[in-house]
Amino acid sequence: MYGRALSCALLSPTTRCTIPQLIRYFARTAAAGAQQDVTTAQLPEISQYFQKALPHQEVYDLSLNNPSAFWGSLARTRLSWYRDFDDVIDCDMTKAKLKWFINGKLNVSVNCVDRHYMKTPDKVAIIWEKDEPGQQENVSYKQLYEMMNQLANTLKSHGVRRGDRVCIYMPMTPLAVAAMLACARIGAIHSVVFAGFSADALTSRINDAKAETVITADQVLRGGKAIDLKSTVDRAVLDCPCVRQVFVAQRTGAPVSMGQMDMPLESEMAKQSTECEPEVMGSEDYLFMLYTSGSTGQPKGIAHTQAGYLLYAAITHQTVFDYREGDIYACVADIGWITGHTYVLYGPLCNGATTVLFESIPTYPDPGRYWEMVERLRVNQFYGSPTAIRLLLKYGDSWVTRYDRSSLRVLGTVGEPINTEAWEWYHNVVGNGKCDIVDTWWQTETGGICIAPRPSRVAAPIIPGAAMRPMFGIAPAIVCPDSGKEFTGNDVYGALCIKLPWPGMARTIYGHHNRYVDTYFKPFQGYYFTGDGAHRDKDGYIHITGASAFDEWTTVLFNSRRRHRLGTAEIEDSMDEHGGSDVAWAPAGCAGIPHPVKGEGVYAFVTLMEDVQKDTDEIITELKSMVKKQIGSFAAPECIQITPGLPKTRSGKIMRRILRKIAANRGDELGDVSTLADPSVVPMLIANHAPIE
Ligand code: WTA
Repeated sequence: MYGRALSCALLSPTTRCTIPQLIRYFARTAAAGAQQDVTTAQLPEISQYFQKALPHQEVYDLSLNNPSAFWGSLARTRLSWYRDFDDVIDCDMTKAKLKWFINGKLNVSVNCVDRHYMKTPDKVAIIWEKDEPGQQENVSYKQLYEMMNQLANTLKSHGVRRGDRVCIYMPMTPLAVAAMLACARIGAIHSVVFAGFSADALTSRINDAKAETVITADQVLRGGKAIDLKSTVDRAVLDCPCVRQVFVAQRTGAPVSMGQMDMPLESEMAKQSTECEPEVMGSEDYLFMLYTSGSTGQPKGIAHTQAGYLLYAAITHQTVFDYREGDIYACVADIGWITGHTYVLYGPLCNGATTVLFESIPTYPDPGRYWEMVERLRVNQFYGSPTAIRLLLKYGDSWVTRYDRSSLRVLGTVGEPINTEAWEWYHNVVGNGKCDIVDTWWQTETGGICIAPRPSRVAAPIIPGAAMRPMFGIAPAIVCPDSGKEFTGNDVYGALCIKLPWPGMARTIYGHHNRYVDTYFKPFQGYYFTGDGAHRDKDGYIHITGASAFDEWTTVLFNSRRRHRLGTAEIEDSMDEHGGSDVAWAPAGCAGIPHPVKGEGVYAFVTLMEDVQKDTDEIITELKSMVKKQIGSFAAPECIQITPGLPKTRSGKIMRRILRKIAANRGDELGDVSTLADPSVVPMLIANHAPIE
């Protein structure tokens, strides 16, 4: 319905549509709209659901019983296409062949910006909540449209073409959003790198993607502090032979040195037209890649495609958060993470929402910042992290209760399990007992939320601390890690897998498809393996037991201060790189440890070379600064234990299960250590346990 009504409005003489291609596109969309009526008529439940909010279970069952009709109908009603797709699904999970909306043609930026710009140009697309409170700026759909197009034309006029990779290393500003959308407009693949990563981390991400273009800014402002970005990029690109141009935006106006490759972004944009013809993209062309940690030191460029990702983002944004037209929606994640991609940008903008772009930190200028913002902007949905909630609850209720939070309806969390104390506080204090708490489980690889309690108006009551219910199209399976067989029934623990494909899932690791297959589809034949453990309770609700449930997958852990997904291997590698004559230590082993505020901290075990003369405090400081340099300061271990040996199997593999227990101070739960090459290291490790700082 939506697609068709919109097409008609756009074709009316009062519209601002001047580009012939847009007219052709909307004519095609109208044709697709006619087809959509047939499909929807066959499945009245889907359209009814979106009008009347049918119970979650009914719609969910429909999505599993008839995924083609379900997703096909939604794709036709919710997205605008240049060319309708021939088939909905062509997937074979055993081969990681994942194709949706076959031969469909569309442009993501048109879906996220143009159609709202045409209909409601003055509607606020982005509220830029700047670092300093009270200085927010509104960006209308019209302004976003113009900014995006000028940026797209800038890229085009400097030779960026469809399929090229563009690295975005930017502060949380509307220009960063416009840069992502500009890539989508011209068919370039963006790779956003969080602006807290170090030069070395940026170098490896740029080189892996072979990006020729970097978009950055002079500085980033966070919590009242200005941090240089441009000089970090300068250092990073020294080792990136692929880079040929760097666009530099102004965030603070601080002086920066401009080299031969550098161009000031705003003045380049000013030369460009505010119209840019969108590139016609295939459903399965890449939209973006985003680096995340994996089981080896090399981060993985998780790649998402156009149509399936966008549709899944839009549908989950609407349904999980009970988003309604006119709401002010705030996800406080950074755009450097998948949460920022899907739930700050693509999902909300595809739905024509007003989305908040939060530049600051939860404690600036004081621990009331989030709730003061909620009052000032009249926020309806707030989506944050358990870490931030745990941090804020320590400051006491008055930082919350002094602000009016009556606008809030839904409070979300993501990234890690939320403990009961934090859940209760979020629910009772922040939400005043009136809001639904949605604990959402998903991953960079899943593209959007997969498991979450739906708001209570369409689902059963919500229980604390459980992600609970699968979203549309998601068929979770709890699989026995030893036999690889799915556990049926309730009250079972195992490896969390997903047994049917869904439109939002990643299609590959950019440039390393075999690694993608090996990591996610080989461990359990026929299933997508999430790497997480889960418990399906006696009532059938799913509880995530965390990433470190299995030995093979202990390599992913979380330093949750700012919700970073880090690999132990990445941290270990960064501490290992100490070659030359000055070698002082040997391979380190890292483990995640429960941390009272951060959720999970990093505990590192390090062995020293025999002839090391240095003071251990000095070594610890040096190790921390190595991690800061190579990854970023957020990754520095909370504890470093210097030890004469690590628990290794006879084949030389570190037994991480043991490191984890020792790090968590649970040396009495080690179980069988007889397979260790040298079991005597265990009592030594236990005796020298380092306290959390
Ligand atoms: C963890 C973030 C428990 C999980 C969107 C997953 C969670 C990883 C939850 C993905 C949750 C995410 N409860 N654990 N609600 N949400 N996780 O790729 O281990 O940064 O695999 O994506 O975070 O982290 P990523």
